[in-house]
Amino acid sequence: MAASEKPPSAGAPLPEGSPHPLHVAVVMDGNGRWAKQRGLPRSLGHRAGVEALKRTVEAAPRLNIRWLTVFGFSTENWSRPAAEVAELMALPKRYFESDIARLDREGVRVRVIGRREGLSSDLVRLVEDAQARTARNDRFHLNIAFNYGGQADITDAARRFAEEVAAGRRAPEDLDEAMLGGLLATAGSPPPDLIVRPSGEQRLSNFLLWEAAYAELVFQDVLWPDYGEEHLRAALAEFAARDRRYGAIAADNVLAAG
Ligand code: IPE
Ligand code: MG
Repeated sequence: MAASEKPPSAGAPLPEGSPHPLHVAVVMDGNGRWAKQRGLPRSLGHRAGVEALKRTVEAAPRLNIRWLTVFGFSTENWSRPAAEVAELMALPKRYFESDIARLDREGVRVRVIGRREGLSSDLVRLVEDAQARTARNDRFHLNIAFNYGGQADITDAARRFAEEVAAGRRAPEDLDEAMLGGLLATAGSPPPDLIVRPSGEQRLSNFLLWEAAYAELVFQDVLWPDYGEEHLRAALAEFAARDRRYGAIAADNVLAAG
């Protein structure tokens, strides 16, 4: 990778000459439509979505992805009917109960990013246990965004910094991009190289707003419950064909400018 292509404060760079993403983020979308197409309740679409998550988490390391961040529940999803919110709140338990032992065995570090307020104490305990149990793993990183919103996360980070200033531990001029980035829920993860959204919608929907600064976006016409390795491969192929410049100009133009 040429120096001019280096992303600003991008964390671990991609291997030399490789267009392969290190960190892939996925907006898991289309569960409701998948269920509707089959005349099923939306809850069954969400359960089928958990199976798609399992397939994707298994496929990702095989495709040399080291970080996977998935959007499970947004700060805006509280506006759904109470019964659906309850079903979505039950999904982490369903997923961790069946998979956490295997994830741990396979060296997966699990983090749940998002606000803890609003979650039941049982769910918070489940999340903290899953994180603690896998905290020393480093082979693959799975971030689950749950009760997460990009704007909420930036707001929380700004508030924490303001508290530091009010307490006299920081000065306003201490704040720069690296410091704010370090206060976000994703601190410690490299920014996503690729953000994938299935289901045909072409929006970020408040996902990783700060972190998405230089991410490539790929939109796929498949509903999340049908997602699997072949779709992830297709997204990677599209990513590989992109020309990432991070605000610089293409290398052949640099030579032409001589
Ligand atoms: C994704 O599927 C699950 C969540 C957003 C929690 P949706 O429930 O948004 O499915 P559609 O968009 O209605 O098809
Ligand atoms: Mg949706």
